[in-house]
Amino acid sequence: MRVILVGFGVVGQSLAKLLLSRSADLYSQHGIKPRIVACVDNKGSAVAPAGLDLERLLKAKAKGGVGLYEKSERFEPQQVIENVEAEVVIECTPTDLLTGEPGTSHIISAMRTGKNVISINKGPLALAFPSLIELANYNGVMFRFSGTVGGGTPILEFAKRCLKGDRIVSFQGILNGTTNYILSKMEEGLTYESALADAKEKGYAEAKPELDTDGYDAAAKLVIMANWVMGMKVTMKDVARTGISGVSVADVKKAQSRGNAIKLIAACDSRRLEVKPTEVSKKDPICVNGTLNAVTFSSEHSGSQTIIGRGAGGMETASAVLRDLIEIRDTIFER
Ligand code: HSE
Repeated sequence: MRVILVGFGVVGQSLAKLLLSRSADLYSQHGIKPRIVACVDNKGSAVAPAGLDLERLLKAKAKGGVGLYEKSERFEPQQVIENVEAEVVIECTPTDLLTGEPGTSHIISAMRTGKNVISINKGPLALAFPSLIELANYNGVMFRFSGTVGGGTPILEFAKRCLKGDRIVSFQGILNGTTNYILSKMEEGLTYESALADAKEKGYAEAKPELDTDGYDAAAKLVIMANWVMGMKVTMKDVARTGISGVSVADVKKAQSRGNAIKLIAACDSRRLEVKPTEVSKKDPICVNGTLNAVTFSSEHSGSQTIIGRGAGGMETASAVLRDLIEIRDTIFER
């Protein structure tokens, strides 16, 4: 399967490492042999129709950018997406929740040229979910985005597939790993600033960490879930959003003394989409710590179920991309 990788940051590089370490079992267990035929980062491009040598690609990136892979002409992402032959485009450029760019243009070009798309970029989905789904259907391509919610934890699949026969009436949970890490560390006595610095260093935070701390990232994931799981047609502007910058260590300690914790809770029901710091009982299964995410779905017939797992991290999110790749391969194979 020929793959174009657009964006080569933490997740893109983790994916390359995962492909290197898992190549044998990906083939033996899933019959999949992904070939990265092009990779573009913010400084250059590397193209090889026979497949890029991923070790060499990672070394080039460590030295300054994928453009150092070999001496060749520099291509812009759009040129690569439109002209290089491939079955799948993986969109891993940084999330921009104001414009959705450059991710949205990349996804549109890929779909228009008949390529299946995997996005871990939340911007395009948070701002234009309904139209991107329509465009994918119109062009007869698959559009997958497991890694946009929950890192490697299959929150979207759990709701969409495992609860298929039921009707989910509402859900709520922790959708942002960075803020959960900060709030958990504040409980342990760290200041807001040092906990945030720690989260940035560990690679959990967005390129612009205000996206995490001001609740935009959780709101984007809430929008993706509301569209995909609840069938709503909503975007970022439909979410009432409050971040965690107003939460003090004193607030955290006060909640703690009551057997509770302050969590950035994202909630959706038929009336509202909301992200805000909320006091939650420590006995509630969604009250998880560190970078864990947790979502409780309330269904009409089967009651409440909670899914918990790591919500951020390069390898975790890369594993979600691999899941999407396998699913695309299986669907192509079945057709
Ligand atoms: N910055 C995000 C988080 C990364 O902390 O949850 C995963 O989407």
